[in-house]
Amino acid sequence: MNKTDAPMPEPRRSVAFIGSECYPFVKTGGLGDVMYALPRALTAQNCDVKVIIPRYKCIPWKYQEKMVYRGSFTMDLCADGRSYYVGIMEYVWDGVVYDFIDNEEFFSWGNPYTNLVDDIPKYCYFAKAALAALNFMDWIPDIIHCHDWQAGLVPIYLRTVFDGTPVASAKSILTIHNLRFQGIYDIPTIKYWSGLPDYLFDYAVLKQKHNDANMFKGGLTYADMITTVSRTYANEIQTPFYGEGLDDHLRYHSGKLCGIVNGIDVDQWNSETDKLLAVKYSIDDVLVGKPQNKLALQKKLGLEEDENKFVIGLISRLTDQKGLDLVNQIIPNLLDGNTQIVVLGTGDAQYEDSFRYYENANKGTVCACIMYDERLAHLIYAGSDALLVPSLFEPCGLTQLIAMRYGTIPIVRETGGLKDTVAPYNMYTNEGNGFSFDRYEPGLLWEAVIRAKTLYFTERESWDEMVIRDMEKDVSWDNSAEQYRALYMKLKP
Ligand code: ADP
Ligand code: GLC
Repeated sequence: MNKTDAPMPEPRRSVAFIGSECYPFVKTGGLGDVMYALPRALTAQNCDVKVIIPRYKCIPWKYQEKMVYRGSFTMDLCADGRSYYVGIMEYVWDGVVYDFIDNEEFFSWGNPYTNLVDDIPKYCYFAKAALAALNFMDWIPDIIHCHDWQAGLVPIYLRTVFDGTPVASAKSILTIHNLRFQGIYDIPTIKYWSGLPDYLFDYAVLKQKHNDANMFKGGLTYADMITTVSRTYANEIQTPFYGEGLDDHLRYHSGKLCGIVNGIDVDQWNSETDKLLAVKYSIDDVLVGKPQNKLALQKKLGLEEDENKFVIGLISRLTDQKGLDLVNQIIPNLLDGNTQIVVLGTGDAQYEDSFRYYENANKGTVCACIMYDERLAHLIYAGSDALLVPSLFEPCGLTQLIAMRYGTIPIVRETGGLKDTVAPYNMYTNEGNGFSFDRYEPGLLWEAVIRAKTLYFTERESWDEMVIRDMEKDVSWDNSAEQYRALYMKLKP
């Protein structure tokens, strides 16, 4: 039976998603995608979902103007009892309700983040305001599903300050999208802004070494359940290398920790309907459609127009997480006259500059698009032959999933969700979805690219079969949304 014809599972569950970004309103990375796609997938699992995010000034006007005022109130926040305005602006779209927490003082700067000095007060306010808004709207969900450190204080507020109020009947889940960012600041500051009582600033909850408090850590202690976005990352973060200083804390709480792999929204990412491509294509005509997109991409970016070049794409935040030092080390070796490289990303100056350098030194062969551009991303996914994701760590990673959906072969490091979603090519059985390497070494990345290129140039039939396999692979949210629903049912039978 087709999934969409399947009967809705009973009973209905209500869920409030609380997080700091959500596509298409505001997105800096995969968290924004998940906050968009998972609620939509959950509505197909008989869940009622409300997404609560800040009303940042950077949200495009075309969305702001559609928001409807839902009410407002004032809320105590700081240790000295300072109170703040909380406005709720609502936007209902495709069965999902989006409630934007409005406060000019906190949300007028940044895209959406600025620096910890501003972001710590901002997300103390946001966590408390989100719960207060649920009480105010008298919308009491079964589950409060919190995302990353910015929502880290929610599970704590829920069981302390909000104890005895209607919203306290909800169970909480805290999902780790990226453990690198934890919301750490000195105890007096976080104590002041959160207004939380002294006893919570203890090692078991918010206290970190020295005089620091850690908002993510405290949330993990208080959440009824912790999830992260792949099974491998769930295991990895319990080790010192990947644990970002919280591995012992996570081992202690491992009984309530599990990994559920991300999917992508297969309507948003669909080569058959994608208006941003030069030519739309399906599994049936990918071998014709893809080269045409490649030529369009080369033309747009000023690369030599030749469909026989092997085009490697890289779409990423340019940070240490993404394995870019490995890429930088091997670029000169990759440029053999048959290969082109397209980078789309923004981030650390060192990577922005080095990719610009390679572009200047190799005009027509390397293109560094140092920008954030959703539209260009679509054409790169479609027009590249392979996509590079050699991350140092990767909780899940969405770009390899999007790549596969567009028939672009991922070349990944075997870590986190990359390991769970990309089966390495097996030349003996002709199985697998991409190419991978294990240790974090430039030589191993280089070898993986060489394996990919060898298959592309010498055994095109096997390559093309892998393209088709990747397009057939289920990268949708269906399966994982079912797992989240099962979790919700376990917490609230
Ligand atoms: P992360 O969340 O760690 O940044 P993911 O792979 O989970 O990594 O998600 C990245 C998302 O952001 C994908 O949707 C990807 O297409 C998008 N993305 C990253 N950089 C850019 C960019 N410069 N322009 C457009 N989209 C980008
Ligand atoms: C984080 C991770 C990425 C993951 C995304 C969505 O930003 O870095 O691996 O896919 O969150 O969960």
